[in-house]
Amino acid sequence: MGKSQSCNYNKYVNIAWICIIVILGNVYELVVAADQHPELSWSKRAAIEAESVASKSCSGHGRAYLDGLIVDDSGAPVCECNPCYEGPDCSQFIPTCSADAGSGDPYFLEPFWMKKAESSAVLVSGWHRLGYTYSDGSYISKALENEIRQLHDFVGNAVTKGRYILYGAGSAQLLSAAVYALSPQNSSSPAKVVASSPYFGLYKTQTEFFQSRAFEFAGEASTWKNKTNSTTQFIEFVTSPNNPDGKLKNPVLQGPNAKAIFDRAYYWPHYMPISAPADDDIMLFSVSKLTGHAGTRFGWAVVKDEAVYERMVSYIQENTMGISRDAQLRAFQLIKAILQGKGNGKEIFDFAYKTMSKRWERLSKTLSATSLFSIEKLGAQYCNFFHKVRHPSPAYAWLKCEREEDKDCNAVLEAANITGRKGSAFGAQDRFARLSLIRSQDDFDLLIDRLNKLAYEESGTRFM
Ligand SMILES: Cc1ncc(COP(=O)(O)O)c(C=O)c1O
Repeated sequence: MGKSQSCNYNKYVNIAWICIIVILGNVYELVVAADQHPELSWSKRAAIEAESVASKSCSGHGRAYLDGLIVDDSGAPVCECNPCYEGPDCSQFIPTCSADAGSGDPYFLEPFWMKKAESSAVLVSGWHRLGYTYSDGSYISKALENEIRQLHDFVGNAVTKGRYILYGAGSAQLLSAAVYALSPQNSSSPAKVVASSPYFGLYKTQTEFFQSRAFEFAGEASTWKNKTNSTTQFIEFVTSPNNPDGKLKNPVLQGPNAKAIFDRAYYWPHYMPISAPADDDIMLFSVSKLTGHAGTRFGWAVVKDEAVYERMVSYIQENTMGISRDAQLRAFQLIKAILQGKGNGKEIFDFAYKTMSKRWERLSKTLSATSLFSIEKLGAQYCNFFHKVRHPSPAYAWLKCEREEDKDCNAVLEAANITGRKGSAFGAQDRFARLSLIRSQDDFDLLIDRLNKLAYEESGTRFM
């Protein structure tokens, strides 16, 4: 073999060795990867089904769900359209339809979760937690409790250190649990449950529904202001920020016989500057207004006093034997997705605050063009979460009808083809009405359209 031939031979051998090493490296990587991500087996069908239904196009005006009521010829769920849209793909707008600003369905957060599809999805095995309790014998997921505490620490909206936490089927169930826990156990006179108007209507309807020898609804808090020294116990619902007017409220009743339940469902950066961590005796929160998952029916209470906590726990145990483990799993995944999101969890609050403040800008501009309605302005405050001074961006607009003849403000809205909620549903006069601003973008856009039309027509009559 000549010298140059032997050089070429060595070169080819070296190249061959390099190729073998590279191939072996790749094979090794594949083996390791396969080991880390073994082929999915039983979860594959569920994942394919979930992705297939989620990918169904409903023209951006509706959604298909796995448990959809209506199925097409192939048995697959079909689009469920937003109000005012119809057709197989929800593409047809119904022009005569009423703009829905009635209930507080928090669909404004839906686009956020669609962007977080991967981190928020949860796949439940057929054998997930069949038993009544967790392995420690409790009804409460400790992993979820840790996340709830972490979330409050991160947002700075509530003190949880040294406080007890329990869960409810929505904060709605915890309202009842708290009333029960604060009511006298052996008294001949029932505790009077009060709230200052305008107040969330469920306080009245629920207390009246469950009324017992221990408690009864007694209406407006201020009418009892100088009567709290008697032997009667008072339980006051304090909603802060308030539904429907967005104000930060304090208890009206003071004294040894007056106790308060602080409903903090809206004390999140979405709606209100976070000025300090709340540290009330009983605080109620809910995923409904935090993540937008009202349908999950999951809320929690942060409680200072052990005896009150124990009484609330026994209420929940007697009532529903704890909260659905599936709902707890869902809440766990959602809060985990928040905390592990960009900015260590800031992303959902950026999204929610931006959406709500934009909606308020549009609503304020629209309302400034008419003298039919007024809204009380809420002052700006420093927000410790966003590190800036900002205005509140409440979940609802509390309208007052200004014309003398408009004693029923909701009727004025109805005549303009808008569904709101009348003032008397909040213990207030019907000269007021509430508009929900947390519904879908479709609902909000139509609401603004209808209000603009109303303002335009009114300005026409004003200058006639
Ligand atoms: C002030 C207030 N508290 C409690 C609730 C009930 O929330 P949940 O869905 O957690 O039962 C609502 C719902 O709109 C509310 O506005």
